Formats: sequence, C-alpha cells, structure tokens
Amino acid sequence: MEVVPTEPEVKTDQGASGGGASGGIEHFDIVVVGGGPGGYATALYGAAAGLAVALVELDKVGGTCLHRGCVPAKAFLETAAVFRTVGSAGDFGIGTGADKLVPTVDFAVSQARKQQVVDQLFSGLSGLLKGRAVTVFNGSGTLLAGHRVRIDGTDGSITEVTGTDIVLAPGSVPRTIPGFDIDGTVVMTSDEVLALEHLPASVAVIGGGAIGCEFATMFADLGTKVTIFEALPSILNGCDDDVVRTIARSFKKRKIDVKAGAVLHGHAPAAKGGTVVSFGDDEQLAVDAVVVSVGRRPRTEGLVSEDAGVVIDERGFVVADGLMRTSAAGVWAVGDVVAASPQLAHVAFAEAIVVIKSILGEPVLPVDYSRVPWAIYCHPEVAFAGMTEAAATAAGLDIVVQKDPFGGNSRARIIGDTEGMVKVIAEQRSDGSTGRILGVHMVGPWVTEQLGAGYLAVNWEATAAEVAQFVQPHPSLSETFGETVLALTGRGLHVG
Ligand code: NAI
Repeated sequence: MEVVPTEPEVKTDQGASGGGASGGIEHFDIVVVGGGPGGYATALYGAAAGLAVALVELDKVGGTCLHRGCVPAKAFLETAAVFRTVGSAGDFGIGTGADKLVPTVDFAVSQARKQQVVDQLFSGLSGLLKGRAVTVFNGSGTLLAGHRVRIDGTDGSITEVTGTDIVLAPGSVPRTIPGFDIDGTVVMTSDEVLALEHLPASVAVIGGGAIGCEFATMFADLGTKVTIFEALPSILNGCDDDVVRTIARSFKKRKIDVKAGAVLHGHAPAAKGGTVVSFGDDEQLAVDAVVVSVGRRPRTEGLVSEDAGVVIDERGFVVADGLMRTSAAGVWAVGDVVAASPQLAHVAFAEAIVVIKSILGEPVLPVDYSRVPWAIYCHPEVAFAGMTEAAATAAGLDIVVQKDPFGGNSRARIIGDTEGMVKVIAEQRSDGSTGRILGVHMVGPWVTEQLGAGYLAVNWEATAAEVAQFVQPHPSLSETFGETVLALTGRGLHVG
C-alpha cells in the first residue's frame, strides 16, 4: 500500500501584531529567518525604528551565542577563574596554614549556574522582542520566490508570510572532521561540552582556534589534563605573533600540551571507557574525551528555494556584499552565514544595524571586518583590533612597534595577575615621527574589557600623539595601553 504523506494545513493568518494580511498571507516590513545575534539584533533594531518585524526561529531566540556558544562558554570560564582565585587565596592572607583553601569543583553546580545565567538572558531577550511587538514564529523558515517565507512550525503546522525585505540569519553549526564522528559523550563539539555534568580527567582538543583555546584553559584550570592538536604550525592563527608566544608560554607553564602541526588519523574507543587518539607517526594518546573545535560551517540546508534568487557559494555560505545584500533584491544576510563575516556575535549586531539603516535609506557604511574587535576569553585573555605586526610588514608599511608588559602595572601586581602585555603597531612617518595607530594587541588580565580604547584608536585612525593625550585612571590595568601609546610619541613615563 502506498503511503501518502498528509499535507499539514497551511495557516496564512496568524493575526500577529504589527503585520498586515494581504490576500490571506500575513505581510511584514521585514521577515528575519534565524533568531541568533544577527537575527534578533535585526528584529530589535528594526522594530525600534517602527518597522513590523517577524522573526522565525527553529529553537530558542538567542541562537548559538546565548545557548551553545559565547555566553555558556564564558560562564564556565568564570567558574575556572573562581577556581584559580580560591587556589591563590592564601597569597592574600585568606585561608593560610592549616586553613589553606583547596578549591574543588562540583561541575553539576557550575552547569546549573551557567544554565541560570542563560535562562535569565533568554527571558530578558524574549521580553524585549515581545515589548517591541516582534512576531516570533517557532519553526524552520525557507525563503521562496517573491519574498515569501514558508515556516515549518515545530508544532507541525505550515505557515507562509511575506516581507518587503527578508533577512537571512541562520547562523552556523560546528564543523567535524573525518575519523572523529560526534557521539556526544566521548567525541564532542562545543554543543555537548557546554552541557557536561562532569569534568573528564583528560581531553584532547582538536583545533587550537578561539573555541579550542577557551575550552583548553577552562578544562586545564579545573584540573583536567589537556592536549591541543592543531594542524597549523601554531595555535591562535590570525593573532599577533607576540600574543601567540605569550599564550603558548602560559599554556606550557600550566601543562597544557600543544601539539602544533599535528596530523590526526582517527581514534579507537578504549574498552574501559574513553578513547585512544592516533596521530603523527604512529603515536597514540589515551583520553577520556575529545573536543572537536575545527571551525563552524554555515547552516544553509533548506534555507532558500532555488527560485528565490539567492546565491549560495560552494562552501554553503550566502553570497552577500559589504552592505549585506544578497544576489536577490530586498534579501539580506547577516552573521555566520556570510563568508566574509568573522563569526563573531558583536559583528553580527553591527551587520544587523547596517541592514536596517540601508532599508530605511539612511547613510551607512559597511562593517570594516579588518578592524572589528576580537576577544578570546582563554586564560590569559586575548583582545585585539586592527593589523598584526606581520600583516603590516607584509603590506609593506613602515611601522613602529611598542610593547609594554603587565608586569610593571601596579593594578596587575595588586590583583596578582601580571602575565601578558600590550602591543601597539603604528605608522612610522617619513620624518621619523609616529603616525596612525594601525593595530592594538593585548594579552593578559581582563584585556577583553580593556580593548575599547585601542579599538577606538584604530577605528578613529587616531595618531599615537592624539591618543597619548588621554588620561588613564591610576592604578588601573588600562594604564598599560596608555603607557604604550605615550612611549610611541618618543617619550614614555615608565616605558620606552
Ligand atoms: P577557528 O577557525 O578559529 O579555529 C579552528 C582551528 O582548528 C584552526 O586553527 C585550524 O587550523 C584547526 N584545525 C582545522 N582542522 C584541523 C584538524 N583536522 N586537525 C587539527 N586542527 C585542525 O574555529 P573555532 O575555534 O572552532 O571557532 C569558530 C568560529 O567562532 C571562529 O570564527 C571563531 O573566531 C569564532 N569564535 C570566536 C570566539 C571569540 O572571539 N571569543 C569564541 C568562539 C568562537
């Protein structure tokens, strides 16, 4: 007997606030597909401008960043920071001698706390969307021809809506590599790591990028034995060489084993649990768990129908220009799904603003990806904006470089965290004076919170002399940036 699937009923009128029904199909100014940082920022910013916005989300608004990425990862990194602080409490006279505090971790509690943070932010975001009358559809959106979006609802319904403009923001999913199929318990991606209830005693982290290094330090600081396998000659590809050296030194000191230039062959689950990773010339490493962090791929399966006019490249990214316009008029794309975009939540926010301003006909500039802020929350933290020294040299620029270690910073001494430095790269003018600041690179305590001034300097195209005019509070970690720039003017107080 032939089984004919039943076509779900197509709903066309949701009676949503803000939208309008035309010919039975509800119409919005903007239909956003995907409710991660790119999608929800588009919805919030568009709604703030008075536009009627529909947001189609398959799972929960907040996307990877809030539920399986940035936020939960940083919550666990904070657990690791508290562990380190308790471990060094004796240095401050807290718990000395027989009362020495020995930190232990109950990861189920850390997991519950992380979830509470995520849930609170999810509830806040849901409230914000509701408050701005954004109509949220729970389902999977597919763009059809004529700006129609078909929503396959999580409840089995099918709804069609239309938008004057459409914004595609479906995000990305972790990439995997052959020989390391994800089973969710022994071989994991960031998705599963962030749901762990117990810490493994040992892990192999495959990929030494931002995600790999963040997980590596989180695990290592909580007592897990960590080995990083990185295919390239060094970890943190794209960061300035001095930053990479500082991190590599710190990892070595904390017994995180970095195997750079690694070639992995696969793994064989061990009888007693865990698995054995094969690499290099017949080498093997037994570990409890493997974390695969080799990048993320765009999630474009089923996103657009062939006749929608949106070009998707051979790697699955939506093709978009600097103003986030796809090849179909009135269809835009933001976030991880755009090839040139650096897969950072804050960049997706900026792209969302570009889209809405463009739709409103306001003056707008493309996001300059070469100068966005980068923040990697491993320990020590890394933050930078603009050119690395190697990139500036390769571009043939005359440059001057100044570095200042946190070791001389009084606040760093006070908090007992002196590892790291600030490095500023500036133009060298033909008269020998220092010109524009081209790159600011920081590694050390709380640098993700300190990058603001450096980011502004790079993007304002400010000269060292201009930035050196600004006063930094004393004692503060931010003085190291101020000192570095002052030294670039030819005379420093403590440096240069
Ligand atoms: P990534 O592209 O930054 O790093 C992946 C690393 O894996 C690379 O160094 C690559 O050489 C290595 N790799 C690839 N195949 C390999 C193999 N077979 N064996 C060994 N190594 C291999 O990707 P990641 O860290 O997964 O992050 C994904 C995206 O999310 C990136 O764009 C990243 O910048 C972004 N992100 C940023 C964060 C931040 O700024 N704090 C935090 C988390 C993610």
